[in-house]
Amino acid sequence: MFRLGWFLGNGFGMQPWYGNWAGRAMTDWTQPGLYVDLTTSLERAGFDLLFIEDTSMVEDTFGESMETTLKYGLMAPKNDPIPLVPLLTAATEHIGVVATMSTIQYPPFLAARSMVTLDHLTQGRVGINVVTSVTHRVAQNFGYDKHFAHAERYAMAEEWMEVVSLLWDSWEPGALVHDQETPKYADHTKVHTIDFEGKYFSCRGPLNTIPGPQRRPVVAQAGNSTPGRELAAKQADTMLALAKSPAEMKALRQDMDTRLIKHGRKPQDLKILFMATPYLGDTDSEAQERFNRFNAAKKDPDNIEKRLWYLSYVSGGVVDYAKYDLDSPVPQEVGNGETTTAKAWLEGSKELTLRDLAEGPSNYGMEFIGSADTMAGEMAEVMEEAGGDGFLMYPDVTRRSIMEVCDGLAPALRKRGVIRDGYAHKTFRDNLLDF
Ligand SMILES: Cc1cc2nc3c(=O)[nH]c(=O)nc-3n(C[C@H](O)[C@H](O)[C@H](O)COP(=O)(O)O)c2cc1C
Repeated sequence: MFRLGWFLGNGFGMQPWYGNWAGRAMTDWTQPGLYVDLTTSLERAGFDLLFIEDTSMVEDTFGESMETTLKYGLMAPKNDPIPLVPLLTAATEHIGVVATMSTIQYPPFLAARSMVTLDHLTQGRVGINVVTSVTHRVAQNFGYDKHFAHAERYAMAEEWMEVVSLLWDSWEPGALVHDQETPKYADHTKVHTIDFEGKYFSCRGPLNTIPGPQRRPVVAQAGNSTPGRELAAKQADTMLALAKSPAEMKALRQDMDTRLIKHGRKPQDLKILFMATPYLGDTDSEAQERFNRFNAAKKDPDNIEKRLWYLSYVSGGVVDYAKYDLDSPVPQEVGNGETTTAKAWLEGSKELTLRDLAEGPSNYGMEFIGSADTMAGEMAEVMEEAGGDGFLMYPDVTRRSIMEVCDGLAPALRKRGVIRDGYAHKTFRDNLLDF
């Protein structure tokens, strides 16, 4: 069996808001409706988690202007995902909800406290996606002149997670006495300061709230660079990964197993979810036709502009792709942002023009094309071959795609016995680590 997660890749922001199937997304994206529908559907389908991306900026690297960003609504506008979490868990009973927090946006105490508060409110169904942020514009919204270099960002993140973890453990098990006669609420000898003095953060502690049902909310990590892998190996329960083949999936799993053991953990302590985009149809040929249409649309000037905008984003706001002629060679600079994504997107592009690259394959994990039954068979085969833990599904978010995945694909996977048919445990972590 393997797990399923859903990647809400534009966070609590605008989902497809024009074109077929956009519904009322343009005006209603600020409301919880679509996300509640999504989460209840994912639970019906047996997903382990909904994963909510987040970023805090209005980009202007591309063309040195906010024009493209705001014309299409690219990664902005976007609401804060944290207040959305309890609305999603109030409508469901089992599924986990992972919200993103950046180590340059939240002081560790605030993050630790906010996550434990959510752990209480969700009754043990929250997770945190720890990211280091991608572009200068984010850093500049939080008091920095520019974003930190990649290596330093991860050094900060390691320290940040250390502080957050110490705070989560600052109340020993058994600290709560709950004696109304004495009266004695808590035993002060079991609640400890952490007295942390690091290079980037200092914090006295203890946390000023009691541990939640999970004690330590589920920790997710998405960067696939070497320092990203190290952070995941030390701290994460789940990691999001980009791989294009079972061989790449296997290689990443083996690499992470070595790192986990080095840090005194077991391979089964970390579940790796691989990004997968589904193109479904009632029949295989209908799905293929849909995929062909999607590919042909990549030649539209709008789509070329959007793709180049994303390249500028993943470079960390370092490369302005608007500066180059579309028929000139692809600049090979990886930049300072999402380096794994940038490398995947630039792979094999030395001989290509920018236009070829923009019109080419998405290179964001795996693509599956077919009817629900065919796709279920292929997904099961890939997992079997790779020995992986699960997929993080990444379709566009419309009510049509939600229904296709949750009421078409998931039942086909369940029929094959390869995804869960219920949730055995109360908390997100216990379900995630169940098999
Ligand atoms: C699947 C996936 C999801 C991500 N989600 C976010 C996010 O929500 N917010 C964010 O600032 N960075 C996000 N990132 C980027 C990072 O997690 C990471 O901190 C950073 O950009 C460096 O990535 P690297 O280790 O691949 O170089 C994501 C990356 C991937 C691959």
